[in-house]
Amino acid sequence: MLQAIVYTSVSVQPMTDFMLETLLLEARRLNLESGVTGALIYSAGTFMQYFEGEPLAMAETYARIRGSRQHTRVTEMLNEPIAARAFPDWQMALAQPARSEPLALATADWVLRNSLSVAHAPVGLAMLRSFWRRRPPPD
Ligand SMILES: Cc1cc2nc3c(=O)[nH]c(=O)nc-3n(C[C@H](O)[C@H](O)[C@H](O)COP(=O)(O)O)c2cc1C
Repeated sequence: MLQAIVYTSVSVQPMTDFMLETLLLEARRLNLESGVTGALIYSAGTFMQYFEGEPLAMAETYARIRGSRQHTRVTEMLNEPIAARAFPDWQMALAQPARSEPLALATADWVLRNSLSVAHAPVGLAMLRSFWRRRPPPD
């Protein structure tokens, strides 16, 4: 039994590389313990995160994420059972899209809202995966 959640949120202050690294180190440590995998996108004050795992671990992780004071306006875009992991090798990947990529992020919102649910789930997941395909897993 596996579950996937996608949300967007707004950082309470601009995230420096150091702040993102600190956040990621903590997230990966926790995710290694709980078996959660996924990917986090940060661009210009906006987070988008996809994470997946066992329902109990997901509930704990989601509560922790929602409770963080580092961001606000957590908006759920997807919360559904999945058949298999999309990011089995990633304790939590990080992508900071180049300036030319916010459009892709905006499109991602539309794609996820419209295609990552019910019948067309593979479309949205394939898009998320392609976003990371060229990036090697973290150490
Ligand atoms: C954008 C974002 C992503 C996060 N991702 C994860 C995650 O993948 N796994 C996890 O266990 N916690 C995650 N957290 C929670 C943090 O690891 C940490 O527990 C939380 O930020 C602590 O609360 P604080 O930020 O108010 O100090 C995330 C938090 C934020 C803001």
